[in-house]
This record gives sequence, C-alpha cells and structure tokens, in this order.
Amino acid sequence: VHVDWDIVTAEKAGFDHFMLKEIYEQPKAYRDTMRGRISDDGKSVQLKELSMSEDYIKSLRKVHIVACGTAYHTGLVGKSVIESLVRIPVETDVASEYRYRSPIITPDTLVIVVSQSGETADTLAALREARSKGARVLAITNVVGSSVAREADDVIITWAGPEIAVASTKAYTSQLIAFYLFSLHLAEVLGSQERAAVEELIAGLHALPEQVEQILEQAPVLKQIAEFISHHKSLFFIGRGVDYAVAQEGSLKLKEISYIHSEAYAAGELKHGTLALVEEGVPVIALVTQEALYEKTMSNIKEVKARGAHVLAIANSGSEQEIAKSVDETFAIPRTLPLLTPALAVVPLQLLSYYASLALGHDVDKPRNLAKSVTVE
Ligand code: G6P
Repeated sequence: VHVDWDIVTAEKAGFDHFMLKEIYEQPKAYRDTMRGRISDDGKSVQLKELSMSEDYIKSLRKVHIVACGTAYHTGLVGKSVIESLVRIPVETDVASEYRYRSPIITPDTLVIVVSQSGETADTLAALREARSKGARVLAITNVVGSSVAREADDVIITWAGPEIAVASTKAYTSQLIAFYLFSLHLAEVLGSQERAAVEELIAGLHALPEQVEQILEQAPVLKQIAEFISHHKSLFFIGRGVDYAVAQEGSLKLKEISYIHSEAYAAGELKHGTLALVEEGVPVIALVTQEALYEKTMSNIKEVKARGAHVLAIANSGSEQEIAKSVDETFAIPRTLPLLTPALAVVPLQLLSYYASLALGHDVDKPRNLAKSVTVE
C-alpha cells in the first residue's frame, strides 16, 4: 500500500501553506492565551505566573518595550494600551537600536521584551543590558524554556503554538492578548480604571476569537483585493493612533512575502513629504477604526483620493456605508473597544499579504533573504 502524504503536508492540516494555517489558528491562539488568566466570574485578570509584587508595580515609573520585527509592532500597541490604562510612560524601541542610544534604565523601569522565538540575538542582548542596569525584565514569548524566558525575571507565555511560517501572524496577535492581560493586571493593582471599564475590556477580549472567525469568513473578498494589489509596485498604509501601529505591521507583512514595496505612514504626517509619491492609481490602505480620530483620518483619506489614490478602508462595521462614499473599497471588522481593534484589524492585512504573495507565485512560507529566528546581531 502506498500512502501518499508526507509529514509536512500532514502538518499543514489541509491548508496550502503554514502561514494560512496559522492565520486560521488565531481564534484558538486567542482563547489559549486567555485561558486560566481571567477569573471564573469573568471580572478580573489573574496572571499567577508573575512574581512581581504589588509594591513593585506601585513603584513603577516607566516601562520600556524592546523587540524586533513583528514583535516590535505589538510593542507599539502595548505602549498605547499601558499608557491609556495606567498612565505610566512607555517607550518602545527596536532591540538593535535600544542598547546604543544609552537608554535611561533605572530600578523603577520595567523592561518588557517581546519575542516569539525567545532567541533573537538583539532582543536577548537588550534583556541582558536592562538587567545589568538593575531593571526588572518581563518577557512575552511563545517558547517555554527559550533563552529570553530563562533569563527574564517574569514571563508571560503566549500559547499560540508552534509558528512555522517566517511571516509572523498568530504570534503577533497572541502577543497583543498578552499586552492586554498584563495592562489590565497593572490597572487592577493600581486602581487606575473603574471596575466597569476593566470588566468591559475583559468582555471585549472574550468576544475577539469569534470576531476573528467572522473576518476569516470574508477571506474571498480579500483575495480579490490582493490580486489587484499584486499588480502594483508600491503602496501605502495609513492610520492614526493604534491604527498607525497596525499599519506598520500590515506594511511589514506585505513586504516580507510579496516583495511589493510599501510604507506605513501616520495619516496626518503624509502631507509633510510622502504625499508627493501618491499619484493616479497608487493603492492606499487606510485604517479607520478609531472613532475619536475618525474625522481627521477621513480628511487624510480625502487628500490621497484627490491625488488619484485607490483607497481600501479597514473600518468598523456600522461605519462602512458612510466611509464607502469617500473610498474605493471598504472592509468592515466587527465592532470592539477602541484599544482592542488591532487584534481584529491586522487579520485582513495578514490575508491581503498572503493572497498577494500567492498571486505573485512566491514562496509564502519561506520568503527570500529572511529567517524565522535571527540569532545574529
Ligand atoms: C525575524 C522573523 C520575524 C520576527 C522577528 C523577531 O525577523 O522573520 O517574523 O518578527 O525575527 O522574532 P522574535 O522571535 O524575536 O519574535
């Protein structure tokens, strides 16, 4: 009897690529990363793995988040979440820059390193530097027993499961979940948020897996848009606030696997130079999930439209009809709280990159020049 399968095909569980499989595993990764970390009554966060005391948390004066690549992009969202929930100043740095700017690290600085693999050389070096200067280090990593996990003072494991594709997807989103949980823990200890606000965020977290499933059901729409994008040489991602952070991840994902040049820009900054590159037909992907910034982002969209850009808006469900009047295409994500939108808005961008790479015939899981884990500085 000839059994016609190999181990890799079996591991892909029916998906054409690991990346697609990992995108579809996100609802599970969200649930697994939250499991056991929220009290049974759903009202508070419990991070039993943390050894940092309440007194330590109360003594904290600043937070540095240090990471590379996609993990750095979760750190940009993490900064917004921590600052808005507990009002402690946060700086986010790429690890390869951190050590060389002589960062001001004091014992009341918490350094959070984020690394899927837990083995990235620059991130590990930053961790060691921070510890040598007396800071406490919290690691957010996907690999139990990795170097980063072993050397940090505290560890929050993301339970995304093994990530094989070079382009990170489920690791990114489960790192976001870790940031949400940790920020809520800080907020509870510091009493910086009303109970109702904490409970509302927890309820929002619980709803995310199903909302991601709703987005995944719309993959065929994104495939079509990706085919359009794949005919272009260059495009832009724009957004404000956490939308700008997600734009940066969307742009990186597209570059990594489709080799199409793209840039992520803070929507309001475009007019200070980059707008000169926007001409007839240039695709612009605009993230418009932050209601407080809606009018401002819409006016930036109108600026690029006036120069002939082809605009795809990623918007909250309910606002898409209004937005549709000003753009060429709209993709709606289910409604959630403003701080939680990155956990949804990134999913259509992952799928766009995947399908663009596929349309161009590239090796989706193993893009040229890139490695899954970078152990050189
Ligand atoms: C490599 C990978 C990226 C990843 C980065 C950081 O460049 O290709 O996908 O985001 O390393 O990896 P880490 O394991 O530290 O999260």
